[in-house]
Amino acid sequence: MQINSFNSKIFIETTVGSGLPEALESLAPSRIFVVTDENTRLHCLPHIEELLAGQKVHETVIGQGEGSKTLETIKQLWDSFHSQGADRAALVLALGGGMLLDVAGFAAATFKRGMPVINIPTTLLSMVDASVGGKTGINFHGYKNHIGVFRAPYQVMIYPDFLKSLERRQLYAGWAEMLKHGLIQSRRHFIRLVMSYPEQLPPGEMAHLIRDSVDIKNFFVTSDPYEGGLRKALNLGHTIGHALESLALERGETLLHGEAVAYGLLCEYGLSVHRLGAESTIYSQLVDYIGRSYQPFSLPSGEWPLLKRYLQQDKKNVSNRINFTLLQNVGQPLVDQYVEWESIEEVLDEVFSQSRDRVE
Ligand SMILES: NC(=O)c1ccc[n+]([C@@H]2O[C@H](COP(=O)([O-])OP(=O)(O)OC[C@H]3O[C@@H](n4cnc5c(N)ncnc54)[C@H](O)[C@@H]3O)[C@@H](O)[C@H]2O)c1
Repeated sequence: MQINSFNSKIFIETTVGSGLPEALESLAPSRIFVVTDENTRLHCLPHIEELLAGQKVHETVIGQGEGSKTLETIKQLWDSFHSQGADRAALVLALGGGMLLDVAGFAAATFKRGMPVINIPTTLLSMVDASVGGKTGINFHGYKNHIGVFRAPYQVMIYPDFLKSLERRQLYAGWAEMLKHGLIQSRRHFIRLVMSYPEQLPPGEMAHLIRDSVDIKNFFVTSDPYEGGLRKALNLGHTIGHALESLALERGETLLHGEAVAYGLLCEYGLSVHRLGAESTIYSQLVDYIGRSYQPFSLPSGEWPLLKRYLQQDKKNVSNRINFTLLQNVGQPLVDQYVEWESIEEVLDEVFSQSRDRVE
């Protein structure tokens, strides 16, 4: 399956490695810089390695996890490009999850003003989200994605078979972004997702759901590549989601980005019901699905002032007002919605008292 995106092409292939030789032939790179982390080097690289035979290949293994999304990792990659004589005809082949694609993409975009990149996403989240749309970057002084550039990859090769080695928790993190895609554009997609469990899906079915999500993400990206307006619809669930992520980090707890987005979606769909009259049956489906499939997250009211502080620092805010994407209904996103703190408190009470009830 092929999807045309903003300055790049996306392929979803049922056989790992399929289409890669053709991409390499059309680019004819001077060298290939393969970027992996310890997990993708172990689980994914062996499946494509022999397709790189006959090329000048240099491998760089970076640290895994969000803690490696740093300037130090960028330097590690620049050092490797520099010491191995990379020129602008060299190719960066990024094999990993969203963290790795963001970092490798940023290092490639800035070295000698830009080398082409082929993204091979290996987590569900990176297949349906991070590999598409050209956002690259790193965290800086504790702020997520604070430094970065927009730069579309040359090509994206999605091989759903790579999901076989992915942990369940990581699968559900990606699923949350897919639920978001359903909510902002397609009731049909949303309903299929809340009626399925990713670890039980036959591969063909998973590939179709990935394609539908990529199509939706791609629609918003190609309509508005630099996030002037419409692309902000993709931020649904992310205002509260990012604040929950920061709060969990401060507590020293692991809350995956996609898990924070799942709880963010609950809160922000709840706000959409209260303020814009969005359908309450969809809210019940979300509450039920997220309650059954995701780890409980507790948010006692004593921590709300801290959450408020994180919300007030969100980079989407204007004049200190907290900026949300909300829904008039499924498929009808409204961007730049400013919501006062009292309404946010109301929804926090609703969402986190329900998850408290489940924990007890
Ligand atoms: N650029 C964008 O548009 C965009 C969009 C969404 C998210 N992101 C970014 O993506 C990142 C999150 O990405 P993620 O959820 O993919 O997490 P991740 O990249 O941190 O990967 C999660 C873990 O899975 C491991 N892993 C990867 N593939 C594997 C496989 N096939 N088998 C076994 N283990 C595997 C990794 O080594 C890592 O430990 C965040 O930094 C977020 O900011 C970027």
